[in-house]
Amino acid sequence: MSGKARVVIARYLPEAGRARLAERYEVDEGGARLERDALMKRVVGAAALVADPTVPVDAGLLDAAGPSLRVVANFAVGYDNVDLAACRARNVVVTNTPDVLTNATAELAVALMLAAARRLGQAERLVRAGHWKGWEPGQLLGRELSGAVVGIVGLGRIGTRVGELLRGFEVDLLYTARARYPDKERRLGARYAGFDELLARSDFVTLHVPLSPETRHLIDARALERLKPGAILVNTSRGDLVDSAAVARALEEDRLGGAGLDVFEGEPQVPPELVRQERVVLTPHIGSATATARDGMAVLVADNVIAVLEGRQPLTPVETH
Ligand code: GLV
Repeated sequence: MSGKARVVIARYLPEAGRARLAERYEVDEGGARLERDALMKRVVGAAALVADPTVPVDAGLLDAAGPSLRVVANFAVGYDNVDLAACRARNVVVTNTPDVLTNATAELAVALMLAAARRLGQAERLVRAGHWKGWEPGQLLGRELSGAVVGIVGLGRIGTRVGELLRGFEVDLLYTARARYPDKERRLGARYAGFDELLARSDFVTLHVPLSPETRHLIDARALERLKPGAILVNTSRGDLVDSAAVARALEEDRLGGAGLDVFEGEPQVPPELVRQERVVLTPHIGSATATARDGMAVLVADNVIAVLEGRQPLTPVETH
């Protein structure tokens, strides 16, 4: 046994962060597939655990690690996979990776708005299937983002960045959030609306709130009934914010105009009722999947681990109480 502290990476961490940790600690990296039983054994005696959205960090895993564990560094901005109360009870610090992935995720949200509005998924499938017969004036008519009413649900870092990116499209921006943000309203030219008003007025609704018991199924059958007919829904946050069966029904009944979804209930399974819908653009949880964002996340994970193990404040702690 070396005298170095053990850092267990549940799955893997890009080299930019892994190398930083390996300079100082004994690093045990799991690999692409998550094996819970193997992780329960690997984690024993770890000082730090690097998790990600696919890794449930619960009391069982924390207990398997034992009292040596000082930090759970989540390789993600969202941390709904981590039982914060269980971490608090064991004096384990929790960190996440905000800021470094804000732009990448916001750009994907805008990409999904455009993709759903211009029916890019359908258009691509048509070409690839060899069914394209030539230019037709009435084929695959879509909608324009420019001038549309866009409703941002959650004006945190990512929601705000979406608002910034949309400025060139000259949209009419609404937002809803737990608090009012007068400075951002001025800067973005955005107007606050209650949730129901936002749903009723928006041509595009994009979700940027974290998953919590309060936000689970925020977009349910009731919300979809209040939505402006033909509106487009975009979700780059967490799949459980949306009741997929209700979304599929709203699409089938032509109440929802389309959707751009990067996250799903029960990932990596994608609800089959959504896969069947032509007007949904589906992407596999790639909000932060740019080299810039992933490297930034990896370095931040490493710096958080190093800070805690060296007895300093982490850079981006998650409030556990
Ligand atoms: C990814 O899903 C994240 O929360 O960063």
